[in-house]
Order: sequence, then C-alpha cells, then structure tokens
Amino acid sequence: MMDAAKKPRPGTTDMPMRVLLSEEAIRARVRELAVDIDRDYAGRVPVLIGVLTGATIFMADLTRQMGIPLEIEFMAVSSYGVGTESTGVVRILKDLNSEITGRDIIVVEDIVDSGLTLAYLQSLLRAREPASLRTCVLLDKKERRETDVALDYIGFTIPNAFVVGYGLDYAGLYRQLPFVGVLESSAITQ
Ligand code: IMP
Ligand code: MG
Repeated sequence: MMDAAKKPRPGTTDMPMRVLLSEEAIRARVRELAVDIDRDYAGRVPVLIGVLTGATIFMADLTRQMGIPLEIEFMAVSSYGVGTESTGVVRILKDLNSEITGRDIIVVEDIVDSGLTLAYLQSLLRAREPASLRTCVLLDKKERRETDVALDYIGFTIPNAFVVGYGLDYAGLYRQLPFVGVLESSAITQ
C-alpha cells in the first residue's frame, strides 16, 4: 500500500503545466451547455454518444447537469494513419449497443482539431438514419480545422496548443486532471 502522505494530491502532476481552463470555469460552462441542450431537446429523449476515451469525463459531468431523460452510449474509434496526424479515415473499435435509426443523436467529443475524425464519424452515424444528429464538443481548436464539420454546442474555443486533462491525454496520461492544461514541453509535437 502506498503511504497516504506520498500519494499525489488529485489534480497535481509531475509535468510542468500551465492551466488553460480552471476546474471552476469548466464546471460553469458545462452547466450552461447542459441548460442549452435541455431546452433544445425538451420533450424528446436524445441518445448522447461519447467518443472514447477522451469524452468520458465531459459526458459524466454534462449528463449529470441535465434534467431531461436521455440515454448514454459510447463508441471507440481509431484513426488510420501514422503518428498523431489524423487521416480522416476512421475504424470502429467499439460500436454502439443499440440501433439509432429514428433517434435524436448528440455526439459528445472532447476536442476537435483537424475535424477529420468527427466528420467521418458524423457521416457514419448519418448513414444509420437518425431523426437528428448534432455534436457537442468541449474544446474547439478552430485554427487547425481542415474540413467543414458542423458543431452545434461548443464549450470553449482554444488556441493551437496541445492540451491535456479533463479527459484529454498525452501518451495515455493526465486524463484525470480536473482542469485543462498545456504541457510545457518542447518534446510535444502534434
Ligand atoms: P482530429 O481528427 O484532428 O479533429 O482529431 C481529434 C482527436 O485528436 C481528438 O478526439 C483527440 O483524441 C486528439 N487530439 C487533438 N488535439 C488534442 C490535444 O490538444 N490534446 C489531446 N488530444 C488531442
Ligand atoms: Mg477524442
């Protein structure tokens, strides 16, 4: 067992990091998004589809601020291609558990960068003929966009920097940070 005194405090990290969005700022914005979606989907039962793994934390917080009935699903996708550059061709690693034909779908994503992954995912879901398809994204790295992709709910528009925390990772780490931070490391290239 780890000595309690040596246990890292939640939200701390061993890497130099600059806080871009504080826990409080994220909480306030997520609540606003929940209010918007509640209002827009009043009387309906949307299916919120989170894109694994980055959207898990956002999904948990967003849905717990919502008041309308809803269903939660997750999908895992992986980009074909080399390195960290998105190619826009997506392979489904884990599909939905249920049919979405005729349903109101809200895709929940952590971040949109080039937009290629999301654009492909949207076309894939659209082919299943949902009644409606919208996208809710926490972070929009607008400057990096390479394709026109429809975003209906946006948490924050952020500058072109590699961010971690609140579900976002670098090499699998930092997802559990309660804030969104920029790693101060020259080793990180996108
Ligand atoms: P896109 O196809 O270029 O839009 O890729 C989006 C995906 O790349 C996101 O779902 C993330 O998994 C990942 N990604 C893009 N930017 C960042 C970042 O700054 N930090 C962590 N992951 C990122
Ligand atoms: Mg993602």
